[in-house]
Parts: sequence; structure tokens; C-alpha cells
Amino acid sequence: MRLVRQPPTNNQTRVVVITADAEFEQLVRATFGASGQIDLRVIPGTLTGGGDKIDVDGVTVVVVDLDLNHTGELHALERLTNRTGSWPPVVVVTQGFDANVARAMVQMRVADFLVKPVSPVELVRTCARVAKGPANAESADAQIYTFLPAVGGAGVTTLAIQTALLLLSSGPRGRSSSCLVDLDFQHGTCADYLDLEPRLDLSEIEQCPERLDRQLLEVMTSYHASGLAVIAAPNRPAEMRSFNPDMVTRLLDLVSSHFDHVVIDMPRTWFSWTDAVLLGSNRLFVISELTVPGLRQAKQLVTAIRERLDQGPQPEVIVNRFEERMFSPGLKKHDVVHALGKDFIAAVPNNYRLVREAIDRGVPLEEIKPGNKITQQLKKLIATPVTKSETAPATATTAGTKNFNLSLAR
Ligand SMILES: Nc1ncnc2c1ncn2[C@@H]1O[C@H](COP(=O)(O)OP(=O)(O)O)[C@@H](O)[C@H]1O
Ligand SMILES: [Mg+2]
Repeated sequence: MRLVRQPPTNNQTRVVVITADAEFEQLVRATFGASGQIDLRVIPGTLTGGGDKIDVDGVTVVVVDLDLNHTGELHALERLTNRTGSWPPVVVVTQGFDANVARAMVQMRVADFLVKPVSPVELVRTCARVAKGPANAESADAQIYTFLPAVGGAGVTTLAIQTALLLLSSGPRGRSSSCLVDLDFQHGTCADYLDLEPRLDLSEIEQCPERLDRQLLEVMTSYHASGLAVIAAPNRPAEMRSFNPDMVTRLLDLVSSHFDHVVIDMPRTWFSWTDAVLLGSNRLFVISELTVPGLRQAKQLVTAIRERLDQGPQPEVIVNRFEERMFSPGLKKHDVVHALGKDFIAAVPNNYRLVREAIDRGVPLEEIKPGNKITQQLKKLIATPVTKSETAPATATTAGTKNFNLSLAR
């Protein structure tokens, strides 16, 4: 979701090259200069000298000729990649090969690097390849699980937190990165429930969302002892503010390019950015409770979501605090099935004491009671394979754009 910087919508390919090497400059000009399709800009000099001034707006590829004899070049490169994030891609050219430098570049998420002498064909191919975005852009992006309340106090925060914690130990090596994002700016409790200090400063990024880069995000992320990253702002209960949708989508774009799993805690109110968040999600859970109004609201919400976002993920209803007493009056599972049909996917059992203790101590349910039924149910839920058409976010996958670049809301 490059809301601020997007790949150019026309077919013009914009290549920016920064180099202090006259010979390389000549090669670049000969390679790209002749093509009417390529808008080439050469910035003479080192990256240390001119890197911070490169305007990356609308640029397709940045080629950096890194002068490793010059101290400060790697730092300048880091500043540049922090600024570009996942778009535009940065290709680095160096005079020789150095394993440490190569490693640093991988960490900076440089798209590719070439060692001189570089042939024109090699340069063109590399630029063309990185300009298409990562080959496996879909799978490289985070899986996004969004929790949306059908009624107040249904347990969105509780289930979002427990799911985010479970996702930490998923993945091929039993370890993945997982980030919980609290978008309930007014009444959010994620940080509170996990006993963390909320560090997201909305006022700082609101004025100027493009300032939000990897580094700023890191500063604004809190970490739970489990390793879970949490992005939450201090509550402003008295302030009913509507945020710039760009800020929210940019935040999610950045988060989704740095974590394997992103779990979103949504507010009940529908904001201008809500559509974009839902459309960008891979799984969309609507949380309700076992009451007639609860089921009715869930049904209405599911219908509304389908009408509004017909290409988005299928809403899946979870009935939380589920308790079925065989011989007493009250709603039964078949009533839920009757009301919600195939949109009903799970009943999460009621266990007040367990949930209470987890919240009070800021720890996962599993730590208090291994194998508890709430965790088991959530495990099953996230393990459920969803068919491709259901998981695919409704975004046009243009190179470099992320899930949230939808702008339905704008
Ligand atoms: N499965 C559950 N069993 C028992 N209590 C629960 C369960 N899920 C949530 N709760 C309780 O319900 C209350 C509301 O939960 P919370 O997650 O804050 O909801 P929301 O974010 O939707 O407002 C909390 O007191 C929490 O302890
Ligand atoms: Mg909540």
C-alpha cells in the first residue's frame, strides 16, 4: 500500500542512478538514455553526498553505485532504504564483493546488487526484474487476520490477542513473527491486556504519513515478553477523532511488509479507513455472542460487509463466550447455525476465570492452562485452510503495491 509513493500509473519507467564513477555513468546513459520509455535521471556524486536528497516519488528503480572506500556510504544506504521501504526497489552496484557488505544489504532489503564490471544487459534485466516487485509478492506479504465486533464487549480484543500469540509459534520452523495492531483508537485495550506501554504516537505521524518508515515504526512498537509486537496508541476516550485514512493504510502496509502475521483489533464504528482494512485482510472474523441481538447484529454486519465489499474476504462469524446448557432454555448451537448458516465458523467457549486471569497477568491463556478449550478452538480456526479465492485480498496487485492500497475509502 504505497499511498504516498506508487509505481507510476503510466508506462513510463523512471530510473534514478546515483554514481560518482564517470565510466559507470557513461554505461548507464548508453544503456537507458536511448530508450524513449525510460526516464533516466543521473545524480553525480556519492550516496553520502546526495542520497538524502533523492526524490523517490514516482520512481520505478533507484540504482546506487556504492563507493565502499567512502565511509558513511552504508549508513547513507540505510537511510535511503528506510525511506523507500518496499517501494521503489533499490539496486546497489559495488566495485568488489564483500560478504559483510552483502549481508548488510540483505538486512536493508536492497532488491539486488551487482558487482562491477556490470554489462548493460545485466543492468537492464536486473532493473526490469526488481521493478516487477518480488516474484512471490503475495506470499511474502503478511497474512492478515482482522477481528471485527458485531456487538460491544463481545471479546474482540481477547480473541485477537490470543490469536496473535498463537501465530507466533506457527510457521514451518515453529516460529513466526506476529504483530498485533490496535485500531480501536478510542477504546483500545490491547496494550492494557498485555501490560505494555502503548507507543504509537498518532499525532506525530498524522500530519505527514510519509514520515512513517521502518525506523519510526520500530520506535512506536511495543514488545511483549512472548516476542509479540504490539502497535497501540494511548487511549483518548474523550476524543472522537477521525484519522486520515492514509495514515492507517500506510501503517498497515508497513507492518504487513515486516511481519509474517498481522492481527488487527477493530473498533465498532465504521471509519473512512475501515473498508480498506477489511479488503486488505486475508481472514475477517466477526465476533459476536450467544444472544438473539448478538446473532442478529452479526447477520446484519455480514450482509453489510458483503454488500459493501463484494470482492473482499468472506466474513466468518465467531460466537464467543459460548455456553450451551442441555436442559435449560436459551440459545443452542442449532439456533446459531439456523441464524448464520455457513457464515458461522466457530464457537469459543466461555471461561471467565481463565480469561480474567490472563488479562490481569498480561499472559497467554496457554501459559495459565495448557490445552484449554479457548486456545484449542482458535488453533483450529487459524489452521483451517481457506480457499484461494477467499484469501486473496481484493487489491489489484500492481508491482510494489500492498494489500491496503485500495482507496475505496478515499
Ligand atoms: N471466551 C471468553 N470467556 C469468558 N470471558 C471472556 C471471553 N472472551 C472475552 N471475555 C471477557 O469479556 C470481556 C470483554 O472482552 P474484550 O476482549 O475486552 O471485548 P471487546 O474487545 O470486544 O470489547 C472481558 O472482560 C473478557 O474478560
Ligand atoms: Mg476491545
